[in-house]
Amino acid sequence: MVLLACNNLSQMISVRNYILILLICTLMAIMVPSTKGGEPYIGWKCVDKTGNYTLNSPYQSNLIAALSNLTTLSSSNSFANFTAGDATDAGKNKVYALYDCRDDLPLQTCHDCVVNASATITQICPLNKEAVITYEECFLRYASHPIVATLELKYALSYCNLAVPDDRGAMNRTVTTIVEKLIDEATSGSASRYFAVGRGSYFVHQDVYCLVQCTPDLSRSDCKECLMDAYNSTIADCASKSMLVGLHSGPSCRIRYSWFRFFNLTSGVGLGPSPSPSFPVGSPRFSPLPINATPRSRKSNGSHGGSLTISNAKLIPLLFSLFLFCV
Ligand SMILES: *[C@@H]1O[C@H](CO)[C@@H](O)[C@H](O)[C@H]1NC(C)=O
Ligand SMILES: *[C@@H]1O[C@H](CO)[C@@H](O)[C@H](O)[C@H]1NC(C)=O
Ligand SMILES: *[C@@H]1O[C@H](CO)[C@@H](O)[C@H](O)[C@H]1NC(C)=O
Ligand SMILES: *[C@@H]1O[C@H](CO)[C@@H](O)[C@H](O)[C@H]1NC(C)=O
Ligand SMILES: *[C@@H]1O[C@H](CO)[C@@H](O)[C@H](O)[C@H]1NC(C)=O
Ligand SMILES: *[C@@H]1O[C@H](CO)[C@@H](O)[C@H](O)[C@H]1NC(C)=O
Ligand SMILES: *[C@@H]1O[C@H](CO)[C@@H](O)[C@H](O)[C@H]1NC(C)=O
Ligand SMILES: *[C@@H]1O[C@H](CO)[C@@H](O)[C@H](O)[C@H]1NC(C)=O
Repeated sequence: MVLLACNNLSQMISVRNYILILLICTLMAIMVPSTKGGEPYIGWKCVDKTGNYTLNSPYQSNLIAALSNLTTLSSSNSFANFTAGDATDAGKNKVYALYDCRDDLPLQTCHDCVVNASATITQICPLNKEAVITYEECFLRYASHPIVATLELKYALSYCNLAVPDDRGAMNRTVTTIVEKLIDEATSGSASRYFAVGRGSYFVHQDVYCLVQCTPDLSRSDCKECLMDAYNSTIADCASKSMLVGLHSGPSCRIRYSWFRFFNLTSGVGLGPSPSPSFPVGSPRFSPLPINATPRSRKSNGSHGGSLTISNAKLIPLLFSLFLFCV
């Protein structure tokens, strides 16, 4: 897609600039797949307020059993929960764990992600009885209290990235429209799973792609509440600041939008036709204004966490602006 656009524009541009454009197009073509459009790929929270377990305790062995069972389950399920521990000592050492993978990905990807998540989270949050970790492909969580079918709005990774200066509210309009539609679609009575993807047109030749998903153990109304909360607390904010990327990934649901098509089109998820662009005709001039990624953190009581990002925040807006200008 990038290359096609590049071919078109190369015809319109004087030979003098041809080499420069070619260079930039090549750069973009290389960067787009390798950086996945600038999204963070891992976020975690170690929940301190629910306390620590001790080494070699029954809690630890239950945790190991739960994670190992989940890993096995992830070869054949995109969502699973597991409770380890019995009623001895009033069930005080019971461990409740679950994971949820993105519905558009193959099970092998889900499995790889759960393997990674369970190994990583126990290293990042050693001794925490409760912790959550989220990757692009999956989410994993454990606690000393029941967590299945429970709406949890805390402990989300939320993130805006790649600002386009002065898009005259185009991203805001595009994202608002598409997210509302997808939330309705994912939580409608006929939906077999709480999952929807779609796209909206941002401007000519540039769509915005969006995914919404809840864990399947939630009730329909909890799913809707979670998605509305994700939208209100992060996504609306990213879009109104003309960010090309917005992500809110929590224990119960996720919403993600991006200028980059990050989800899998060949796995049976369909996209409707691209609607007309919300970008005004007679485009404004884009001045390259690199803005650093803006990780958002909601104040969370008694937990610590973090995220790792691919750092390309400066390059993409620059290239993108040039790209817009050329088209
Ligand atoms: C739990 O362990 C961490 C270090 O791993 C420590 O910083 C924290 O204070 C401990 N919390 C409690 C409640 O003991
Ligand atoms: C699954 O958990 C049980 C305890 O609940 C444990 O005995 C068993 O070994 C675990 N299975 C795997 C594959 O880890
Ligand atoms: C696990 O995660 C690390 C970074 O978080 C990544 O480099 C590695 O490729 C991942 N491995 C798998 C099997 O997904
Ligand atoms: C949680 O796991 C148990 C045992 O595997 C299973 O019976 C139950 O259906 C699961 N709950 C959900 C909501 O998936
Ligand atoms: C989201 O915001 C709208 C409008 O501001 C409000 O009506 C709604 O209650 C909010 N929902 C949640 C879950 O915060
Ligand atoms: C974004 O859109 C919402 C609803 O359409 C509107 O209330 C808000 O003012 C817009 N924000 C910006 C910065 O344009
Ligand atoms: C997309 O889905 C198809 C079918 O499930 C799978 O074969 C393919 O590997 C997936 N691609 C990615 C990038 O996950
Ligand atoms: C933190 O806890 C206090 C008291 O328990 C509560 O009033 C406040 O709303 C909580 N903040 C968040 C972000 O959960």
